[in-house]
Amino acid sequence: MTMMVIRTFRQSDLHDVMVLANRTLGEIYNPGIYTAIFQVVPEGFIVSYDNAKLTGLCVAVPEAQALRILMLSVDEEYRRSGIGRTLMKEIVSRFLARGFKSLTLEVRVGNDGGIGFYKELGFSITTMLPNFYSNGDSAYRMIKAIG
Ligand SMILES: CC(C)(COP(=O)(O)OP(=O)(O)OC[C@H]1O[C@@H](n2cnc3c(N)ncnc32)[C@H](O)[C@@H]1OP(=O)(O)O)[C@@H](O)C(=O)NCCC(=O)NCCS
Repeated sequence: MTMMVIRTFRQSDLHDVMVLANRTLGEIYNPGIYTAIFQVVPEGFIVSYDNAKLTGLCVAVPEAQALRILMLSVDEEYRRSGIGRTLMKEIVSRFLARGFKSLTLEVRVGNDGGIGFYKELGFSITTMLPNFYSNGDSAYRMIKAIG
């Protein structure tokens, strides 16, 4: 039976988180980055589990006027069942009281699935950032007004 739980990241999730992020986000992140983000903004690092299986993760950090989504990933086998939408809703609700005017993020040019997802959630592309990723790929910046 599916028992989906969304909660704040724990250090014991680190291995699963790295495997999912490295497989699905097109970047290999240094393990230290997860711990560093968690130490500074623990409430901005959430995971979803189906029993013992990590199904998704979302990382967001507050900036001056905006909440910036740094990572969002759902396990391939669990996609299109609402987990991505639910993770985004949870992360926004955690920061709502801080009065941010917008959500902002970068998504790889050519990631049509990711772009389609964010458009469905109300984001719009504002600009292109050439050479944004470590392999030279460009990014679109996408923004959504909130509050
Ligand atoms: C983008 C991603 C997080 C979406 O997660 P998800 O759990 O499958 O998304 P949801 O099920 O909540 O989708 C909500 C809605 O978004 C839209 N959507 C989701 N995936 C989509 C896709 N591949 N193409 C077009 N629209 C999509 C749909 O309208 C969907 O509703 P529907 O399934 O009822 O049609 C997931 O595909 C993923 O991890 N991709 C790889 C990593 C990535 O691209 N991350 C984002 C950029 S950093």
